[in-house]
Amino acid sequence: DPLKRVAIVGSGNWGSTIAKIIGNNIVKFNTFENEVRMYVYEEMVDGRKLTEIINEEHENTKYLPGHKFTPNIVAYADVVETVKDADILLFILPHQFVERTCNAIKSHVKPGAFAVSFSKGFYVGKDNTVELLSTAITRLLEIPCYVVMGANIASEVASGTFCEATVGARNYEHGQMVKGLLQTEEFRIVIKPDTEVIEVLGALKNIVAVAAGFSDGLGYGDNTKAAVIRLGLKEMVKFCEEFFPGHHPHIFLESCGVADLVTTCYGGRNRKVAAAFVKTGKDIKTLEAEMLNGQKLQGPDAAAEVKEWLKEKGQANKFPLFTAVHDICERRIEPTALIDALRYHPEFW
Ligand code: NAD
Ligand code: 13P
Repeated sequence: DPLKRVAIVGSGNWGSTIAKIIGNNIVKFNTFENEVRMYVYEEMVDGRKLTEIINEEHENTKYLPGHKFTPNIVAYADVVETVKDADILLFILPHQFVERTCNAIKSHVKPGAFAVSFSKGFYVGKDNTVELLSTAITRLLEIPCYVVMGANIASEVASGTFCEATVGARNYEHGQMVKGLLQTEEFRIVIKPDTEVIEVLGALKNIVAVAAGFSDGLGYGDNTKAAVIRLGLKEMVKFCEEFFPGHHPHIFLESCGVADLVTTCYGGRNRKVAAAFVKTGKDIKTLEAEMLNGQKLQGPDAAAEVKEWLKEKGQANKFPLFTAVHDICERRIEPTALIDALRYHPEFW
């Protein structure tokens, strides 16, 4: 069989971390081409093109400074060139950019290829229909799409401190390929078949992390944050049961569930910016630009997407934490109203 080619679509904080891992791992297999192309949304960094910096210094000095890639990671500014010969397409973009990137490569994907989405969020179509990103990728590219989700603050994963992730795949062979590309001694991978729920949990926990950040910003303590996490988890479980029934009940105990929720509510960007939103009174977009140096928030947009989803299904009143997060981000209600959403939660009726 010809060697399989892997392409990485995206090169932000998490995309670069995955590139670092895969660049090292891939040379251990005799089934994969060693060269991995990585799509870089071109920009100038210190007067140089980011693709040039990556290809010359083997480092993404903007989004993952201090970590070297192996030289088999090759940066491309042209997304079609990146993916056209690839058998495995890893989508690691902020979720807001997934659809337009798929449209750009639509008729250039190799037959028989498959995709893997690492992005956390939903896709809202023009008629306000809401879709999973993996579903949108499959629809647009006509290839299967699996997912990777987990408690994975990128800088920690890149540093090699121990953690784990969940691969969602019902195709055994493809799931094993993804696991082989990702797993190291310090990054342990579990494959589970509940792909949809695994993806949904990754998107929803960012909304809860925004709520945790509001709680921190308001100066409330650990008990309140624990209540945010618990009630948030209840809504995550309810959302999955309501809209994606049939999953294994223990899926919430995997890295993609409770573990990702906890790490993001303590160490994530969503939490950090949401706390600053309360403390400074500045809006989310301003803080994202001021605090994240080009990195993107996923939680506030996911809250808007979920609100749309719940509106369409007539179920918004069952998810007061999710909906309060959106209303607070939009300044329709005060941050303190988060506590009312918790106080009068259906849990206590
Ligand atoms: P990031 O937050 O670092 O985002 C910046 C990236 O977006 C840069 O590569 C930038 O070039 C790119 N970009 C900006 N405008 C663009 C455009 N118009 N089109 C295409 N790309 C554009 O990204 P990330 O941290 O790699 O996150 C990607 C996904 O992975 C997200 O959905 C996130 O939730 C998920 N994720 C992130 C982490 C983490 O700790 N960073 C961990 C797990 C999962
Ligand atoms: P943030 O986007 O809030 O940093 O969360 C990163 C993440 O998804 C950790 O698994």
